[in-house]
Amino acid sequence: MTYQFAAELAGRTIVITGGGRSIGREMATAAAAAKMKIAILEINKANLDETVNSLRANGADITGYQVDLQVEDQIINTIKEIERDFGKIEVFVNNAAFHDSADLIASSLEMWNKTLDINITAPFICIRAILPGMIERKFGAIINIGTVNSKMMIGSDSYTASKAALHALTRTVAVRYGGHGIRCNTIVPGTIATEVWQERIDRNPSVFENLKSWYPMGRVGKPSDIAAAVLYLASDQAPWMTGTEFVVDGGLLAGFAPMYPVVEGTD
Ligand SMILES: NC(=O)c1ccc[n+]([C@@H]2O[C@H](COP(=O)([O-])OP(=O)(O)OC[C@H]3O[C@@H](n4cnc5c(N)ncnc54)[C@H](O)[C@@H]3O)[C@@H](O)[C@H]2O)c1
Repeated sequence: MTYQFAAELAGRTIVITGGGRSIGREMATAAAAAKMKIAILEINKANLDETVNSLRANGADITGYQVDLQVEDQIINTIKEIERDFGKIEVFVNNAAFHDSADLIASSLEMWNKTLDINITAPFICIRAILPGMIERKFGAIINIGTVNSKMMIGSDSYTASKAALHALTRTVAVRYGGHGIRCNTIVPGTIATEVWQERIDRNPSVFENLKSWYPMGRVGKPSDIAAAVLYLASDQAPWMTGTEFVVDGGLLAGFAPMYPVVEGTD
């Protein structure tokens, strides 16, 4: 995808958690196209290095930080390091996530806690750490990556609960710190074809093919669908957007594509 982006993004610092692969890597690619300064937080060293090296080879100003987002000290120290290295953080994307598709009865407490640690506790720790600097400069755009699962029951029980909490955290930050020049929004993606689906693809290689008929736009999403939304929300083109659920889902939340002909008796 050739990204269209606002000129003021050039030189602005963006931090992306979970930028080693999939949607996070594509966000970094989009940010590089916009000439932003990029910091990636990622647990997987090989993927982190691959993202950083490939974007750097194309001229990007990007630095990788290996962090386990389940460890509070690591997060806090890394954010301090980024503030030292880059001078300031202007855009922060809580993108990293853990997905467990076990149903409620099959869910272990260990997996439930891991899901909450990565999907809601880590964003809380990150946001708490970056806010003082943003408030001081009266400028900051925080983007939390939510999910359509938070809006309706479509499986993945612990993941859904954790992401619903993240949607709520967005509203809290937007309302409490809006007066300090901070904007905070949730992007709400539908199905995006990424590596996190691999286990499910192994069980059913047609999973995306089977899902696409539910989507009014007739396809599942691509990482660039979400990366483009990040560039928009990070820019000054969205100066009055805060506290929103910015839905990027091919129309899924508007209605299931196969349903209305059944209701109307024309199927
Ligand atoms: N793929 C989809 O269908 C879909 C749909 C809706 C929302 N989303 C959301 O989009 C975001 C990105 O999804 P994705 O499909 O790219 O996922 P992904 O699993 O491919 O990528 C997530 C990244 O986060 C990193 N990460 C996980 N735990 C970490 C930890 N403890 N410390 C540091 N890094 C860690 C992983 O190593 C990985 O690089 C997530 O927030 C996800 O919930 C995805």
